[in-house]
Amino acid sequence: MIRKDLFKKYNISAPRYTTYPTIQYWTENPTTEEWIDSLNQTLEKNNSTLSIYIHIPFCESLCTFCGCNTSISKNHSVEIPYIQALEKELNLYLEKVPALSSTELIELNLGGGTPTFFSDEHLEKLISLVLSKIKVSKIAEFSVEIDPRVTRMSQVEILFNTGFRKISIGVQDFDLEVQKIINRNQSFEVTKKLIEFSREIGFNSINIDLIYGLPKQTVSSITKTIELVLQLKPNKITFYSYAHVSWIKDSQRLYTEKDLPNEDEKRKLNETGRLLLENAGYHEIGMDNFVLQEDSLWKSFLNGKLHRNLMGFTSVRSDAVIGLGTSAISESLDCYHQNEKIEVKYRKLLSEGKIATLKGHKLSLSDIMHKELLVKLITTGEVEVPEVILEDCKDYLHVIQSDDLIQWEKSKLKITEIGKPFLKIICTIFDEKLRKNLTNKRLFNL
Ligand SMILES: C[S@@+](CC[C@H](N)C(=O)[O-])C[C@H]1O[C@@H](n2cnc3c(N)ncnc32)[C@H](O)[C@@H]1O
Ligand code: SF4
Repeated sequence: MIRKDLFKKYNISAPRYTTYPTIQYWTENPTTEEWIDSLNQTLEKNNSTLSIYIHIPFCESLCTFCGCNTSISKNHSVEIPYIQALEKELNLYLEKVPALSSTELIELNLGGGTPTFFSDEHLEKLISLVLSKIKVSKIAEFSVEIDPRVTRMSQVEILFNTGFRKISIGVQDFDLEVQKIINRNQSFEVTKKLIEFSREIGFNSINIDLIYGLPKQTVSSITKTIELVLQLKPNKITFYSYAHVSWIKDSQRLYTEKDLPNEDEKRKLNETGRLLLENAGYHEIGMDNFVLQEDSLWKSFLNGKLHRNLMGFTSVRSDAVIGLGTSAISESLDCYHQNEKIEVKYRKLLSEGKIATLKGHKLSLSDIMHKELLVKLITTGEVEVPEVILEDCKDYLHVIQSDDLIQWEKSKLKITEIGKPFLKIICTIFDEKLRKNLTNKRLFNL
């Protein structure tokens, strides 16, 4: 249910909480040894499980809006040295974390950048390299990010034959004017062909990424885009808010603020998209993710088994995530670790036999408690709030409660149907770090 007055009142940006603390508040920087110790402790527990994320930063052309860690090149000679570095990195982990070789892999995700930048041969080589060194669980889920503009059917076949069943397809917007300014020429036909082929060979989970708030986007253009996307019947749609970080990403300075929808227009794009998705039978789970009832994530949500880690929402819960490749983030029970973002530095450190640490965060007991509360709230829509922070939480959220976005059942905080679109803002209740830095007591006005 969409209440427009509330969208206006709570038109405030808040983090997506893929990590807690969010990266800007990572302060307790562990050394590489401390990170490895923490990973060892996490994986030494009986029956521990693992997720692996592999970052492939390469793209042949730059989409001007893109906020990801990419390396733009048409020169494919970068593939072999990069795979060699990934192999060194995995070997280093196997050497330094003895429990890793007996830990079951329950999730593998290839992301980027563009994983299908790699040739067929190199794509296959990379996947078999990982699978030959790590024990794979029978329930493992393999997923991959696909850009239809550069993906060959032979690559989709390789991914399927090596165990991938989940595919996430970048669309962003089908409008020609939007595509021109974001430098992303992607036809509906090419996208459709790729989706149909993937379905035909057996991929059973297809996600489409869309963004609202892109330059030149209008209510009419986003409506047409979503109508086209609905014809493709993905079981999941990710509807991201455009993140404008032009002070970090030079390419976002190739258009001006005037090309971007203003706050009010962006809010309308969000409302329009949500309404179209809801009317087409998509349910929102967590943040920005809309799924059909038959999707496994929806089933997991209904039976309280949905989980969220660095890679997004999943039905399987691992104890640790190892991120391989430039800029990749890893996670243990009490630590985050991020790799060097610059490829040359990343490869140099590995060639010296070192894990390519850039930074990290060692979680305090309070961080762990707040992280768990956030994950529970995001994945189930409700959470039992500990006595020690209950009064403060009720006080912080009382306006949100009077607007019916949440309900209290004694000490249990529940998001209402009306409150679902405002989950990120409600989550700030457990963000100790952000709240300490607020000039007002709350992120929103009373
Ligand atoms: C790493 S990209 C990989 C997708 C693949 N390379 C492609 O373009 O199809 C993953 C997703 O991040 C999202 N994304 C990238 N930059 C963004 C930004 N500035 N704001 C919001 N979402 C963004 C896009 O929806 C994109 O599909
Ligand atoms: S959106 Fe995808 S293809 Fe475009 S620059 Fe970003 S990662 Fe590369």
